[in-house]
Amino acid sequence: MCGIVGAVAQRNVVPVLLQGLLRLEYRGYDSAGLVVVNHNQLERVVSTGRVAELSEKTIHTSGHLGIAHTRWATHGVPSERNAHPHISSGQIAVAHNGIIENYEELRTRLSAQGYTFASDTDTEVIAHLIHSHYARGISLLGATQAALAELVGAYAIGVVAADNPQQLIGARKGSPLLLGVGEIEHFIASDASALLQVTKNMVYLEEGDVVEVGLHGYRIFNAQGEAAQRPVHVSELTNESVELGEYRHYMQKEIHEQPQALANTLESVCNSQSLIPGIFGAEAAATFADIDSILILACGTSNHAGQVARYWLEEIAGIPCNVEIASEYRYRVSVVNPKTLVVTISQSGETADTMAALNHAKSIGHLHTLSICNVPESALVRASKLRMLTRAGPEIGVASTKAFTTQLAALFLLTLILAKQRGRLSQEAEQKHLHDLRHLPAAAQAVLNLEPQIAELAKHFADKHHALFLGRGLHYPIALEGALKLKEISYIHAEAYPAGELKHGPLALVDQDMPVIAVAPNDALLEKLKSNLQEVRARGGELYVFADADTRIHSSDGVHRMQMPEHAGYLSPILHTIPLQLLAYYVALQKGTDVDKPRNLAKSVTVE
Ligand code: F6R
Repeated sequence: MCGIVGAVAQRNVVPVLLQGLLRLEYRGYDSAGLVVVNHNQLERVVSTGRVAELSEKTIHTSGHLGIAHTRWATHGVPSERNAHPHISSGQIAVAHNGIIENYEELRTRLSAQGYTFASDTDTEVIAHLIHSHYARGISLLGATQAALAELVGAYAIGVVAADNPQQLIGARKGSPLLLGVGEIEHFIASDASALLQVTKNMVYLEEGDVVEVGLHGYRIFNAQGEAAQRPVHVSELTNESVELGEYRHYMQKEIHEQPQALANTLESVCNSQSLIPGIFGAEAAATFADIDSILILACGTSNHAGQVARYWLEEIAGIPCNVEIASEYRYRVSVVNPKTLVVTISQSGETADTMAALNHAKSIGHLHTLSICNVPESALVRASKLRMLTRAGPEIGVASTKAFTTQLAALFLLTLILAKQRGRLSQEAEQKHLHDLRHLPAAAQAVLNLEPQIAELAKHFADKHHALFLGRGLHYPIALEGALKLKEISYIHAEAYPAGELKHGPLALVDQDMPVIAVAPNDALLEKLKSNLQEVRARGGELYVFADADTRIHSSDGVHRMQMPEHAGYLSPILHTIPLQLLAYYVALQKGTDVDKPRNLAKSVTVE
């Protein structure tokens, strides 16, 4: 969480910093702030509002060197005093993303040395630590390296000094940071989207790297303090891909981008005549031949994708599969089977719990790792032996949408490839699945055409405080995902249950004020689901059913049926997700919440 931008240039960098922060606001939006260096002084401007408010406060601010920050609060409430950057002794300013675990101990020590703390943050200790070294005449680079050596925890930082008007220091460990290379100007940022406005040439810093950035160049040092070379990548991101365009919100845009995102993710497969393990990496064939089970680790929406995959993997590929919440797995004592493939799923590739779960799995003896991720150079991708990149493009809305459906597409490919390798996929079945995958983007587009009807339906939820989602089998995780989407952006309390579980407790909640949303594909469990829906109707519950055309479920008193255009077999969970995303979106509009930036949340959860 939190976003950082820094710039050193021959022009006023304030517009660059503000534009960068706007792009990074998805990472946290509790407060925003910047520091510029001017005439040997640090000028700090902060705001507890959004970046737009910071912009208004900085109309008279300018400078050729600066750092900026958008915050997701961890230590200390959102307030101006806790907003970054933090300053030590009027000399050193630091913007930080991450958590310093030993900050209390450092704070006590620094206080004893005479430093006074102006905030409740863990970050301020970094500023004072760097200052304590800098004041002894050490260079800014050396002082930062010395301070970092004392920190326990995760950080990406940007550092400037009042008397050093052409130098910026960046460092990362556990949180992302990259360098943007321009002509006689250089930048740092938490992600590439923040710098597209000024350059496409990006250098991804590695764990433990520290970079000294000047007008004319930069020097990178690795965790051991040795000079290091890192390749310059030309970013494939376009400005268009991170702009809102014709849409009202990023979430709406990203829901609509799903047909293209699915087509992009499936491109290599759909253009070929057969499925090959190579799409997961050069070592995939050998690894897949050596495994006898799968363990999926992920959080939130990505975990729901894993839960769908479990049904596919066991049924189609015949491989035992467990799915665990990453934050639980990392602290659980578990039994290691070295023939397990550990699959981590993450949109961002920087979720702290997922990353820690992967590291934990490796540390206890798991050998085979695969990540499914939307960010190519992310920590998770780099830490995994095998990888499959979803090609959803940047996802900016905090609620994950296109990342989820493309994760499902990638997991379905994994299932088919494992099934094929195990002799469980006939040539005919392979061709049929390939045909269905090629058709998937068009099928997703057809579901999007339900948007006006769903917008109408959403009005029924305007005065509701609770909702129950039901699904069975493959679609139970889709019910979970529908409930998560609704709760996080509309703040309606929503629960999801496997429909067969209703009678074991949750049915007690059902009355006319409890809307019940059912995911009803025409699959083997349809008749069972229908019986469960009768149980709801019999208790006066209002039903909202997303039903395939051939389910013979019709609208009637207390039953609102939304007809899905077609039944997609195994791929049905992907299609059934889309109307639930739209429902959450339009209910949030009814409620007037901040759709793209729901309260208390952030896009990348880089803290525990
Ligand atoms: C919900 C949502 C979160 C994320 C979770 C994991 O809409 O977006 O639940 O899915 O924080 O994030 P990633 O996928 O980046 O690891």
